[in-house]
Amino acid sequence: MQENKLQELLDSLSLTEKIGQLVQVPGEVLNAEGQELGVREDLGLSEELARNVGSTLNVVGAQRVKAVQKAYLERSRHKIPLLFMADIIYGFRTVFPIPLALGCSFDPQLLERLCEVTSEESVAAGAHVTFSPMVDLVRDARWGRCLESTGEDPYMNSLYAAAMVKGFQKGLGEAKPAGMASCVKHFAAYGAPEGGRDYNTVDMSERRLRQEYLPSYKAGVDAGCEMIMTSFNTVDGIPSTGNKWLMNDVLREEWGFDGVVITDYAAIAELVLHGAAEDQKEAARLAMEAGVDIDMCTGCYANYLEELLKEGKIDEGMLDKAVMRILRLKNKLGLFEDPYRGADEAEEARLFLCEENRRLAREAAVKTMVLLENKQWMPRSAGGTYAQEKTLPLKKGCRIAVIGPYADNQDALGMWAIHGNKENVVTLKAALEEVAGKENVTSAPGCETLLEKDYRDLPFMMEQMGTQAWSTEKRQQEMERAEKLAQQADVAVLALGEAVVQGGEGGSRTCLDLPGDQLELLRRVREKAAKVVVVLFGGRPLVLDEVGRLSDALLEVWFPGTEGGHAIADVLFGKENPSGRLSMSMPRRVGQMPLYYNHFRTGRPYDGTTPNRFFSRYTDCDNEPLYPYGYGLSYHRAEYSPVTLSSHIMHRESPLTVKADITNTGDMAGVEAVQLYIRDVAGSVVRPVKELKGVQLVSLEAGETKTVEFVITEDMLRFYGKDMEYRSEAGKFQVMVAPHSGCEMQAEFILE
Ligand code: GLC
Repeated sequence: MQENKLQELLDSLSLTEKIGQLVQVPGEVLNAEGQELGVREDLGLSEELARNVGSTLNVVGAQRVKAVQKAYLERSRHKIPLLFMADIIYGFRTVFPIPLALGCSFDPQLLERLCEVTSEESVAAGAHVTFSPMVDLVRDARWGRCLESTGEDPYMNSLYAAAMVKGFQKGLGEAKPAGMASCVKHFAAYGAPEGGRDYNTVDMSERRLRQEYLPSYKAGVDAGCEMIMTSFNTVDGIPSTGNKWLMNDVLREEWGFDGVVITDYAAIAELVLHGAAEDQKEAARLAMEAGVDIDMCTGCYANYLEELLKEGKIDEGMLDKAVMRILRLKNKLGLFEDPYRGADEAEEARLFLCEENRRLAREAAVKTMVLLENKQWMPRSAGGTYAQEKTLPLKKGCRIAVIGPYADNQDALGMWAIHGNKENVVTLKAALEEVAGKENVTSAPGCETLLEKDYRDLPFMMEQMGTQAWSTEKRQQEMERAEKLAQQADVAVLALGEAVVQGGEGGSRTCLDLPGDQLELLRRVREKAAKVVVVLFGGRPLVLDEVGRLSDALLEVWFPGTEGGHAIADVLFGKENPSGRLSMSMPRRVGQMPLYYNHFRTGRPYDGTTPNRFFSRYTDCDNEPLYPYGYGLSYHRAEYSPVTLSSHIMHRESPLTVKADITNTGDMAGVEAVQLYIRDVAGSVVRPVKELKGVQLVSLEAGETKTVEFVITEDMLRFYGKDMEYRSEAGKFQVMVAPHSGCEMQAEFILE
């Protein structure tokens, strides 16, 4: 539809119809027959307003979407189609690894590809908008939503944000219905709640906000995302949803974003709970003034905008702008021409979990798991020879006891794969039987995933899930059964990890140890097994010091998605060489949180050795992470030569080249994530000890050497200085080309 026709449509709407476009209701409000159910009363929506809502949440499936859209349009005077929005975070029916895992790939193109596939499946299921990517930077593993983030680095998160937006939106606006509108969230800095406690206060300097937290949202906007979602938290004392500086001055005026802004769930009403508004009417005014277009699942806009207009507290121009942005989005999706855009049961059947999509899911899972330990294996049996080989890869024909709560468990999708079916998941046990033969695989759970000590509402949760806690004797029996299997096998593969319910939204934890009896199970299996390989599931970094000590090999697989089992077996048996590198620092203790590699140096930097208390250090724990950002092992071995610089003096308009030779001294081909870190030694404000400024994925045959070259340009050295101007400052810089962030700087140059 042409712009002028949109304007005519807007002008034809009544006030109620305009306000209706700004309201999103939960899916259950509009059942397949189109009747509103109880939620209408809960939200206090009039029957007329409910009949005119502009969008709905998490109604998907071709058949259901078409039925709801049809019923809605039959009762609509203006015939503006309903917008179907959904949380399709890391896959639709084919579920990929969680974003924190995807962040370990260092491969934005991979993320773009899997978002394209996700979009194809979602469009067939009638979805128009996805509330993804979540681009919140994370530094505190106590926060349950780390699983949705691509990690702790502003540079990588920006690359991933752009890639995911492009992938989701591929084909959007073209003749054939393709692509979903991508809604980047949660704007802004939702990943920095105090104490790692969800929904808690976020408070930081504008400099830190702009330097470290805003880049990934801006990358999403620059990639052309159609929507932005406000975050629950405050930014400098004002909740994002009512924060005009953030939503208008930064997002729309500075960045030029002219898409749709939607709140997070019920966030306008929460302005009252925050204490930013006396009542919901004031909250509605604040949100409208901030530039929020859609009220997700409250009655604030529905019940107060008309009054606010009449009182002159908001003007109709604001309202019209918001409605027009929504009409433009619906128009870009082609809904006026085809309200049923792409919803197609036959396409669903063709695309969902098709071989090609499963293959991509398997590839993504392989590329995102991180090998943290792979020791020279020394048989525990007395007199065993000291094996020269590493614990992994396993040899064909070895007898495996796969033990643990994740051994034969389809809970590999994580907390936010609400449109996936765990029944489609290949378990680790099933995958190992496929590769090693059923006769070579035994299995036992060994223990439950978690106990009441780990999860305060566990009895309630278990009642909800219809499960029963094990009795004391069952716990003892299962532990002994596991020990016996471990003793009889050549290798015990321990599939351990946090429970799915422990992560995700509202999943804040103060303890990051393995939950339940899992550490006890590991200790007891360690005593019996010749070889112990731990495969770790979960949605955040855990405290792994004892796990790392007791395992011969340790493979972090996160929540690896539909094809996780196959991918893990591929890596354990060496069919695939793990290349994942950590997207978040792994702590020694939870007390180290927040923990991140690009920290400031302080006036008393601790070098890790000086036995003097008067340095910035803990008296009971190292400062350094157990496993640093960017770290991971592979089956190949990469040797890095010292770097060479094209010059030690850099002029602003003439870039500097940094080179290093990378040699694969192992006997297996592999891919190395070669990382470029730069340190600005001194500035008008203090600067991080290092910052990732470049990554190259380099494939190396056994014995092969490649020269890797990075070009350093002046814009890479810019930051928000004392005067809040974004520019580089002359002075000394250090640089390193390394396999991870824990390495030492290697060379210096001066920026003139
Ligand atoms: C939730 C989440 C947000 C999600 C929205 C809609 O509370 O914070 O990420 O997209 O509500 O389900």
